[in-house]
Amino acid sequence: MSVNLKGRSFLKLLDFTPREIQYLLDLSRDLKRAKYTGNEHQLLKGKNVALMFQKDSTRTRCAFEVGAMDQGAGTVYLGPSGSQFGKKESVEDTAKVLGRMFDGIEFRGYKQTDVESLAAHSGVPVWNGLTDEFHPTQILADFLTIQEEKGKLKGLKLVFCGDARNNMGNSLMVGCAKMGMHFVACAPKEVWPDSKLVEQCQEIAKETGAIIELEADVMKASKDADAIYTDVWVSMGEPKEVWDQRVKLLQPYQVNMKMIQNAKPDVLFMHCLPAFHDLNTETAQQVHEQFGLNEMEVTDEVFRSKHSVVFEEAENRLHTIKAVMVATIG
Ligand code: CP
Ligand code: NVA
Repeated sequence: MSVNLKGRSFLKLLDFTPREIQYLLDLSRDLKRAKYTGNEHQLLKGKNVALMFQKDSTRTRCAFEVGAMDQGAGTVYLGPSGSQFGKKESVEDTAKVLGRMFDGIEFRGYKQTDVESLAAHSGVPVWNGLTDEFHPTQILADFLTIQEEKGKLKGLKLVFCGDARNNMGNSLMVGCAKMGMHFVACAPKEVWPDSKLVEQCQEIAKETGAIIELEADVMKASKDADAIYTDVWVSMGEPKEVWDQRVKLLQPYQVNMKMIQNAKPDVLFMHCLPAFHDLNTETAQQVHEQFGLNEMEVTDEVFRSKHSVVFEEAENRLHTIKAVMVATIG
């Protein structure tokens, strides 16, 4: 059975079969190899893509821009301000306008319903560059990295520590369910993923052989892990007031060497980035002044250790996002 994703939007991993996800990972590997060896063929010549960002971005924006340029496509960036979107023009009307000018639209914003609505009304493929609920292009980069390091996905134990109901916790749980992995949300009960999504993933797991677990005990959760993943404690768009409660709740879930040593000897440390592992950012300084912390979701020691593959993941954002564009509009 062949895989054909032409004309499809990439809104969340729940919409894709394991085979389709594997196809995107294989295409990413091939495009990465082609770029490395100077053998890249431009499959997006004459195409134009719109990049809409309601929230800031370094990796996702650059991956879409460089990926499009590598493949011969033009890009137009619409930032958090400077367009009519949201203020004077609805999602539906914006979708209808952009669909007449562009071959594909990337959207990073707040509501998952907005990216779904863009896809429903634009008539062209729409790619989710992060919403409050899901961050599916990040998972492709993470899984490509795991495959490169471990040679497979199936059966591997991935432990996500932190705010397990944020876009990363949700997307990793879905991705692991689809690819037959052992996913553990290592988090206090207050921030466990939505029970409906957990049930949905457990249903998928019955087909794929995956295991989906929620575990508040850090040592139980991290035991024999193949990969330990974490993310910021407070996500983009959340109000400042949540910091106080979130720091108290998630400090015991910080990824440190004790946790790493409890995992498999060759455990990978993973993070979507940006990460608060030192005091070299404005936000980290503010949190330091308020709560006295020098590092947050991960210690600097782990972040810089031999286990860390965070910059491999960051690079793989390019190859995987390029694959999504090539597969859907190429
Ligand atoms: N990981 C990620 O999405 O990074 P950016 O916010 O920089 O795009
Ligand atoms: N959970 C984070 C992910 C950033 C890539 C956020 O939404 O801010």
